[in-house]
Amino acid sequence: MENIVWHKHKVEKLERSKQKKQKPCILWFTGLSGAGKSTVADAVEQKLFELGHHTYLLDGDNVRHGLNKDLGFSDADRVENIRRIGEMAKLFADAGLIVMSAFISPFRSDRQMVRDLVEEKEFVEVYISTPLSTCEERDPKGLYKKARSGQIKNFTGIDSDYEVPHHPEVTLNTAELNVNECVDRVISYLKQNEII
Ligand SMILES: Nc1ncnc2c1ncn2[C@@H]1O[C@H](COP(=O)(O)OP(=O)(O)OP(=O)(O)O)[C@@H](O)[C@H]1O
Ligand SMILES: [Mg+2]
Repeated sequence: MENIVWHKHKVEKLERSKQKKQKPCILWFTGLSGAGKSTVADAVEQKLFELGHHTYLLDGDNVRHGLNKDLGFSDADRVENIRRIGEMAKLFADAGLIVMSAFISPFRSDRQMVRDLVEEKEFVEVYISTPLSTCEERDPKGLYKKARSGQIKNFTGIDSDYEVPHHPEVTLNTAELNVNECVDRVISYLKQNEII
């Protein structure tokens, strides 16, 4: 990228995050559709908000209505979807925020790509490990039904792979933990790691 020079500003991430009394990070929720990513991320954000922290939640299809509306569901577009979300999350983290993202993000390489964008302690992978059978029973959007009947192709867990994280920072099985218990575990992780 010749001729494109990074401008170093005087107010940087460290100053911004000190002002907010928190360490910026990305809580990257991953798991099957219906696993509980949005539900838990939403509840974690509420809790952090109550505690006076500055957060931002990037969730699912919302991004496809705006920034990523030019992208479809081909392999290349899915990779680009996550890449842009990762870059966006990085910008919010740079602004000093605790960022949450709730995307299925089924592929290890895509999650690794985002992990590699930020500093080591800034990427917190939260694996929502709820088994497929529970997700399918819940089917809150009716998508599993459509996938089983062939109305949706390449649906994660049915005819497209979900690659289980090898070393997630936090694992939550919502078939066994209620929403409050999930929130407590995430908050404990953030406290133990002096993020909040
Ligand atoms: N312990 C729990 N934690 C989270 N969700 C739960 C729990 N128990 C039941 N649920 C229900 O499971 C469903 C989870 O749906 P949610 O939309 O959060 O999943 P998602 O992972 O965001 O899926 P998608 O990838 O399709 O957006 C909700 O209907 C929620 O009420
Ligand atoms: Mg969701």
